[in-house]
Amino acid sequence: MRTFRIFILSLFIINFLLVIPGTARTLTDVQIGNKVNELLGKMTLKEKVGQMMQYSYWGSSGGKGQEAALRQGLVGSFLNVESIADKNRLQKIAVEQTRLGIPIIFGRDVIHGFRTIIPIPLGQAASWNPQLIEAGAALAAREARAIGVHWTFAPMLDICRDPRWGRIAEGLGEDPYLTSQLGAAMVRGFQGNDYSAPDRIAACAKHYVAYGAAEGGRDYNTTAVSERQLREIYLPPFRAAVDAGVATIMSAFNEIDGIPASGNQFTLRTILRNEWQFKGFVVSDWTSLTEMINHGFCADEKEVALKSITAGVDMEMVSESYIHHLENLLNEKQITSELIDESVRNILQIKFKTGLFDNPYTPEGGEKALLTPENQNVAQEIARQSLVLLKNEKNLLPLAKNLKRIAVIGPMANAPHDQLGCWSMDGRKENTITPLKAIQNYVGKETEVLFTEGLKTSRTTDTDGFDQAFKYASIADVVLLFVGEESILSGEAHSRAFLELPGAQEKLIEAVAKLNKPTVMVILAGRPLTFHQVAEKVGAILYAWHPGTMGGPAIADVLFGNYAPSGKLPVSFPKTVGQIPVYYAHKNTGRPPSPNQKGIPMGTPLDPVAFVSNYLDVDVTPEYPFGYGLSYTNFEYSNLKLSTDKLKMGEILEISVQVKNSGQMAADEIVQLYIRDLAASVTRPVKELRGFKRITLKPGESQIVNFKLQTNDLAFYNQQMKMVTEPGKFQLWVGKNSAEGLQTEFWIAE
Ligand code: GLC
Repeated sequence: MRTFRIFILSLFIINFLLVIPGTARTLTDVQIGNKVNELLGKMTLKEKVGQMMQYSYWGSSGGKGQEAALRQGLVGSFLNVESIADKNRLQKIAVEQTRLGIPIIFGRDVIHGFRTIIPIPLGQAASWNPQLIEAGAALAAREARAIGVHWTFAPMLDICRDPRWGRIAEGLGEDPYLTSQLGAAMVRGFQGNDYSAPDRIAACAKHYVAYGAAEGGRDYNTTAVSERQLREIYLPPFRAAVDAGVATIMSAFNEIDGIPASGNQFTLRTILRNEWQFKGFVVSDWTSLTEMINHGFCADEKEVALKSITAGVDMEMVSESYIHHLENLLNEKQITSELIDESVRNILQIKFKTGLFDNPYTPEGGEKALLTPENQNVAQEIARQSLVLLKNEKNLLPLAKNLKRIAVIGPMANAPHDQLGCWSMDGRKENTITPLKAIQNYVGKETEVLFTEGLKTSRTTDTDGFDQAFKYASIADVVLLFVGEESILSGEAHSRAFLELPGAQEKLIEAVAKLNKPTVMVILAGRPLTFHQVAEKVGAILYAWHPGTMGGPAIADVLFGNYAPSGKLPVSFPKTVGQIPVYYAHKNTGRPPSPNQKGIPMGTPLDPVAFVSNYLDVDVTPEYPFGYGLSYTNFEYSNLKLSTDKLKMGEILEISVQVKNSGQMAADEIVQLYIRDLAASVTRPVKELRGFKRITLKPGESQIVNFKLQTNDLAFYNQQMKMVTEPGKFQLWVGKNSAEGLQTEFWIAE
C-alpha cells in the first residue's frame, strides 16, 4: 500500500511541476496555430478589433473608460501599468470577466535595464560584446517579467549618423553590421529560447524603419532615403532581429521618401512579410497611425485605419482609429475580414508564445528579483566594457593608489538620476552608485577626496561654484573632472543643434586647467559631443556615456587600473557639428579630399583651394573615428596574411593577423576587419566593417587572430536591386579602429 501511495504522490508532483506557473511553453507552433484558429472562430468582430487596441494605462482614475472597454473584451494590451497588483486586477477582468477570457499582454519600455539600469544602448554598443549585451537584456527580462511585464519595446535598432538626434542614445551606433550583431544579441537576451518562461519577455525591434535618418537630426523629421540606402543601411539590423526570432516590430513615426513608415506597404508587407517571412505582429508607435493626418498622408481617422491595416500594422498604440473605423470599413467592403483575422492571428499567437493563456497572472513578491547582487555585477561589467579611453597623455591613467588628495569636480560627479540616462523609468536614483561615491569607497583613508560640483547642473551658466573648484584643484595631486549632459538632454524629442558641453562646463574646465595639474576629464553623455578645445587642456579623457546604476564603480575600476579600458566607439565623433553627417563608411566621391586637407592657406588669397570635397575651415576627418578606443597597454599588429589573393566566387577567404600586447598590463583588444570593393556597378563605401573579435592578452603575449570571409559577405544591391558580389579588386584592413590598420588586397575572379 505504501509503495502505491508513493507512486500516486510522485505522479501528482510530476503533474504539478508540469503546470507550475511560468514553466516552459508546452505547445508547439502548430498546436498554437490550431488554438489561435479555434479561438478566432469564436470571436465577434468587435472582440477581434479589440485585440488590435493597446491603451497606455492612466491609472484607476483615468482608466475608467479603459476598464469599461476591457470588460467588453475590447482591449488587447496595455502599456505603462506599473504595479503587479494593477496588472493582476486588469488581467482578472480580461481572463475571468469577459466572454472569451483572452489575456492582456502588458508592454513597457525596458530599454536598458529595469530596476538595475545598465548603460544606455549606445554605451553598451561601445563594448562590441554580443555575449555581454545578451546578458544585459536577460537581466532586464528577469526583472521586468518578475513585475509582470510581458513585452518590451526594445531593441531600438535605428542606425544614426547624426549626434544631434537625441535618440542616438537609444541605438547601437552608425554601423549596420555592428548594430545587427548586437541587436540580435539583445533579442536573444530578452526572449531566450522560450519567452513564456518566468524570466523572459517578448521583444520588439523598433522603429521600423529609417527613423534615425531624420533630416537635421531633428526627432520625428522627414527621412529621404533611397531604397538602396534602406536595404544596405537601415533594414539589415531589423532583418537580423527577425532572423533571431523577434516577436514583434514597431512601425516608426517618420515618413520614408514621402510615405509614413506606419502606412508603408513596401516596408511592412513587401519586405517584412513577403521577403523576410516575419511571423510576429506589428505594433504602431505612440499615435503614429493618426499622425499620418499631420503628415498629410491621410485626410481623416477613417483613412488612417484603412491605410494602416492595409499596410500591415496589427496593433494600434494609444490612438483609436481601429476601434472607431475598422467595423465600418469592413461593412463598406473597403477591407476584407481576412485582413482583420490576419492581424488578430498575429497578435494571439504571440500571446500564446508569451505563455499568457497558461499563466496570465504575476505572482506577488516579484520585487525580490530586482537589483540582485548578480544583476549589479552584470551591470558593472557592461559599464566597465562600455567605457572608451579617448586620450591618455604620459599614461596619466591609471591613477596611483596612494594619492594624498584627489579633487572630484563637476556636475556629473554625483548626479544619480542623470547617470541612469534616458528611458530609465523603472530605475531609482537612490540605487545609483555615482563616481563620487565609488571613488570615496575605493580610496584608502590615506587619500583625501575633495568634492565640489563647480556647476549645479550640466546646463547652468552660474559660475559661483568656480572658486571652490579652483581652491580644491589647486591643492590636489590629481583633478578628476566629471562633465557631460544631464539625461534630459538626450532621448526622445531631445535633439540638440549644438554639441558642445552645455552650460559653463568648458569655462570650468579651462579655469581648472590653468593650474596645470594632472587632470582627467570623464564625460557622461547620451551622444557624441564636440569638445576639441578643452580636449587639449586635459591629460586624459574617458567617455562614460550614461553608464547606469553601477556606472560609478565601473569608472573607478578603470581610473584606478582594476580594469584596462577596452571600449571602442560605435559612432564617429565629429570635430564640429558642421561636419555632420560624418561617418567612416562614407563614399569616396569623384573628388576625395586628403584626410587633413582644409582651407585656403592664410595670406595667399589667390591660391586656389584644391577643387575637392572639403571645407575651408575644418578637415573632413572626425575628432575620434568609429572603432576608436585606447587601452592601458599597447597592441602591435603584424603578419597580416590571406589564404589567397585570388578568390573564386563562392570560395572562403581566410585572414590571419598577429596581435601582441607589448605593454605592461593585461587587457582586451577588439580586433576589427574592414573591406572595400574598389570598383563595382554601384559605388561602394571606402570601408565596411565585416568582422570583429575580442581577445585578452597578458603583457608580452601574442595571439594569431583569424577571420573568414565568404564572397557573399562582399555582396551589395546592384542597379537591379539584387544582392550580388561582383568580381574585381578588394582592399582589406585588420586593425584597432576604422582609421588605421594593416592593409592588403585581393581579387575575386569571374
Ligand atoms: C514612444 C517611443 C517608442 C516607445 C513608445 C511607448 O513615443 O517612440 O520608442 O516604445 O512611445 O512608450
